[in-house]
Amino acid sequence: MKKVIRGILFLLLLLGFCGYEGYQSRIQIKEVQIQKKHEEEKKEEQEEQKEEKIQVIDPDKPMIAITFDDGPGRYTKRLLKILEKYDAKATFFLVGNNIAKYPEEIKKMDALGCEYGNHTMSHADLTKLQKKDIKKQIDRTDAQLKKIVGKKTTLIRPPYGAVNKTLRETAEKPLILWSMDTLDWKKKDAKKVRNYIKKYVEDGEIILVHDIHKTTVDAMEKVIPELIKKGYQLVTVSELAKARGTTLKAGTKYFSFYPADNDR
Ligand code: NI
Repeated sequence: MKKVIRGILFLLLLLGFCGYEGYQSRIQIKEVQIQKKHEEEKKEEQEEQKEEKIQVIDPDKPMIAITFDDGPGRYTKRLLKILEKYDAKATFFLVGNNIAKYPEEIKKMDALGCEYGNHTMSHADLTKLQKKDIKKQIDRTDAQLKKIVGKKTTLIRPPYGAVNKTLRETAEKPLILWSMDTLDWKKKDAKKVRNYIKKYVEDGEIILVHDIHKTTVDAMEKVIPELIKKGYQLVTVSELAKARGTTLKAGTKYFSFYPADNDR
């Protein structure tokens, strides 16, 4: 009889233990499931945010590429705030010697989806240099940028717009010139620069301005929302080229991406 009671007790104990175990593991499974769900929700949220950041470019609507040369400088931060406010993109043709002084601005450009261009290390006239020195001017600028964002520039804007055969043969990136010269550096007048852009801007234009002048940033503050209101999409040079069906080639000069260029 004692044996039977002991046996029953043992069984009850075993059942109780199993039940407890099962209960515990059910809790654990539930916790894991909840955690997984949280993770999935978080992932979805992040992807949604990412999608929001990717600006959809409508190829049938007018678009322009505003390009800022000679910076970064002390007004670049303000300019980036303006770009951010209007969800506009631009291309920055950086002077290598200025890069290390403005790491935050450099990072912000990337965060806003702007494009990095190479304007040489010391704003050199590349047509006066030999191949190895041209390479040095470009590569050293890229090295400066890489230190901050781990990226290289994708385009070259030769200072003074000076291009020769040696440069075309040496350049490992497309050579981006411009179709609209605002002469902002000479005018140093926000109103004049703003009015000039508004008057002459065309679909597919590459606009040349300089973010090292306060007056230029002042002009941007007004003209960027005005251009957007007119229906222009403010995109990077590479985005503009792509939207117009152009594959950019190293050592080739580009001045604009007018829609008519496709029909020529
Ligand atoms: Ni320049």
